Order: sequence, then C-alpha cells, then structure tokens
Amino acid sequence: MELAAVVLAAGKGTRMKSKTPKVLHQVCGLPMISHVLQAIKDAGVKKTVVVVGYQSESVTQALGTEVGIAVQKEQLGTAHALLQAEKQLKDFSGNILVVCGDTPLITAQTLNELVNLHVNKEASATVLTAQLEDPTGYGRVIRDENGRVAKIVEQKDAAADELLIKEINTGIYCFKTDFLFDSLKNISSENAQGEYYLTDIIQHYVQEGRPVCAQVVSNVAEIQGINDRRQLAEAEAILRKRVLDKLMAGGVTIIDPATTFIDKTVEIGFDTIIYPFSIIEGKTVIGTDCVIGPQSRLVDVQIGNDVKVLNSVILNSKIGDKVTIGPYAYIRPETVIGNEVKVGDFVEIKKSNIGNYSKVPHLSYIGDSIIGERVNIGAGTITCNYDGVAKHISIVEDGAFIGSNTNLVAPVKVGAGAIIGAGSTITKNVEPGALGVARSRQKNIEDWAFSKRQPKKD
Ligand code: UD1
Ligand code: CA
Repeated sequence: MELAAVVLAAGKGTRMKSKTPKVLHQVCGLPMISHVLQAIKDAGVKKTVVVVGYQSESVTQALGTEVGIAVQKEQLGTAHALLQAEKQLKDFSGNILVVCGDTPLITAQTLNELVNLHVNKEASATVLTAQLEDPTGYGRVIRDENGRVAKIVEQKDAAADELLIKEINTGIYCFKTDFLFDSLKNISSENAQGEYYLTDIIQHYVQEGRPVCAQVVSNVAEIQGINDRRQLAEAEAILRKRVLDKLMAGGVTIIDPATTFIDKTVEIGFDTIIYPFSIIEGKTVIGTDCVIGPQSRLVDVQIGNDVKVLNSVILNSKIGDKVTIGPYAYIRPETVIGNEVKVGDFVEIKKSNIGNYSKVPHLSYIGDSIIGERVNIGAGTITCNYDGVAKHISIVEDGAFIGSNTNLVAPVKVGAGAIIGAGSTITKNVEPGALGVARSRQKNIEDWAFSKRQPKKD
C-alpha cells in the first residue's frame, strides 16, 4: 500500500528562546527538519506534507520544492495541525506516517518497522512508543488488562498513577487514511491545555473497535524530541557520532572522534586521516589519502587527493591534488588552487587562482589574483588589490619569480618567466623574461656609524 507522510512543524518552540523557528535550528549542519525529511524519504515515502505555522515563510523556504506545504495559522494542537494536511492528501488512500519536525534522530529503519507492523496487523492506527527511565513531559501510553493500547494521556492531564508509567508516546504514528481526517474533526479541546490533541484519536479508535497497535522502539535515542538548547546539543552529539562512524566505516581514519566535528553533508575518501580539533562543514568533499588537521576548519571546500591541510581555515574554495596548505593559512572564498601547489605558513589567499606547481610558501597576501604555473612568490609578498575605492586584479604569468617582500600594486601584470627583485613595489607591468626592480639603490657611507656612536661618558 502506498505511504505518505505528514510532518508537524507549526510550533514556535518557545523553550528554544530563539527568533528562529525550532525546526530550523541546525544539527550536524542541517536544519533538524531536514534530517526528519531525509529519514522519511529513505523509508520510501513518495508524498510528504509539512504543516508549518510559526514563521511559515522562512520554514517553507528552507524546505525546498520536494514537499507539500500546509499552513496551520493558529497552533491549536497536534490534531488540528494534522487536519491541515487533509486537502493535500484528499486523493490519497494509503497509509500516512505522522512525524514531528523536532525529532532529527529518527531513522528510516525505525519508520519502516513501524509501517511494517501497521500493515501486517492491518491496524487503523499504530503508535511508536518507548520505554524511558525518565518519562517526564511525554504523553503516557495506557494499556488495558490484555496489554493492548487503550489511550494516551498527556503529562498535564495524567493522574498520579498514570504518571508512574514509563511507556511514552514518541509522537510518531502510522494511520490508515480512510477515516483519519473525519475522526480528527471529532476531537475536542477539553483538556488541561485547551488543545486539540492528536493523541485522543487512539482512545476514539479503541472505543469504535478499530484496531490500534503499538511498536516499542528499540533505540530510545532516536525518538528524542528537541525542545531546548540542551537537547539540541545532545542530538548534535548523537548525530555527530553517527556521521563519524559512517565515515570510519568507509575507510577514513578519525584520530579522535571526541574532538572532530563533521557535518552530515560532507564526503571524505578512504585512507584520508582527520587529526583532532578539526571542523569540516557544508558541502565539503575531500578525496583520498589526504591529511586534514590538527585544528583545521573547512567549509564548502572541494579537495582533491593526497592533500595536506595543517592548522588552516579554508572557505568555499577548490583545491587540486598533492597540495600542501599551512600551517596557519587562511584561504578565503572563490579561490581555486591547482595541483602540487604549496601554500605555506601565515599566507592569506582570497578569490584567486593559483596554477599547478606554484608556491606561496610564507607570509603573503594574495587577493584577486591570477597566478600561473610554476610561479614562486617570495616570502612577505603581498598584492595591493584595493585602492580604497575598488578591487583590482594582479596577474603573474607562468614561471615568474617574485622576490621576497614585493608589493604588487594592482592592476598589474608580471609576464611569463620574469623576475622581480626583492623588496620591489611594482606599479607597472613587467614584460615576459624581464627583471623588474623598484626600490632605491643601496648606498654605503664608510665609518658613518662609528662617527655617530660616541663612547659613553662615565
Ligand atoms: C506531543 C504529544 C505527546 C508526545 C510528544 C512526543 C500531543 C498532544 N502530545 O507532545 O504525547 O509524548 O509529542 O514528543 O500530541 N505542532 C503543530 N501545531 C500545533 C501543536 C504542535 O504543528 O498546534 C507540532 C510542533 O511544532 C511539534 C509537534 O507538533 O513539532 C509536537 O508538538 P509539541 O507541542 O512539542 O508536543 P508535545 O507537548 O511535545
Ligand atoms: Ca515536543
């Protein structure tokens, strides 16, 4: 039977104390709702509707075009939220998975287990439950004398003996579509919170004689709902471990998982080694046989094979094969570095191309530049790319040698094979093969220093 999903995500998330809607807070580099949607997709769901409300535009924007959107204007409760998806699912007749947008740790496997039980038992509703040491805050699952689910009671409505129950409602369900939406319309808001509780549907179904099942989740970490920043950090830690485990299973060495932070979106080739205190984020792709870290941060970077990055920061750039970077390099967005390039210590590169086999070994700033192949940039060389009004381009052609402590005042071009004398401030183009020197000649005055140094009087 076909499977659709509804994700409830209209709430504000008051306990996050944030101007950002709860479901957009990030876990391992992705909004928490994206993790939920990924699990749903991996579970084979074809059609998904997300119920949005608080800051619906920003949430909708973050969701992309793959899901349908239903807007719940007022947050009147979870039953009311689910009802908002009715229109989008009016031609749908299969089973509907209902998941909250604030459970980013849920896996496709667990969702599949829930659906399988639901289908096998031909249930009208199946609820995913969990046994928790501390069930505080969750709805409690009340079973009858035969162990069958009778109803779900919210914490705020529960009697003292019900509060002792440790089996809780995870907020994840599978429903037959048939009478779901009609039943939701019969739910009342007469309860402690004055809300339309989705959980009430369980008791309604039981009373109507419709089959209701429960699946107890095997891994309780998966169902943790995020309500505050502490739980956000807990979820981050669990998900981070999953990400690192997957990378290690794929042949990546992670020397110290406790101090390595890698987004779910990152790809890393086998035999690459990640040293401690490294943070790898966004759409970063790293090849094989690389050594990253210690203490490096890479965001949206493409890195080839056999590259070493030591104590450096690289943002939104592309690095070829057999490149060494750092220690203490800062590579800023829109930089493209070729193969077998060396970018050494205390070098900043911004929006520049560095050709194959070129070297920028020490203490340089290269901005808005096009550096050819086999170029050597001497220590302390900088491009003066900004004149206070606009940015200008420096071009250094293949095989040029830039002496140490050169200033390249852009716009300027150094031709192929040219040499720049150390300490030059180059303001005019230098022809290919030429020597460019721009510094005052050295003058030595004999005994001048001795004559100035009067012997100290006692
Ligand atoms: C709900 C369940 C509770 C369960 C818990 C699991 C109900 C009444 N209670 O409680 O049994 O143990 O989840 O985490 O369902 N939402 C809307 N619109 C609304 C209200 C909520 O979209 O009007 C969304 C929220 O954004 C959230 C989800 O529904 O993603 C759950 O809402 P929340 O208020 O967190 O419910 P809980 O009190 O945690
Ligand atoms: Ca919740």
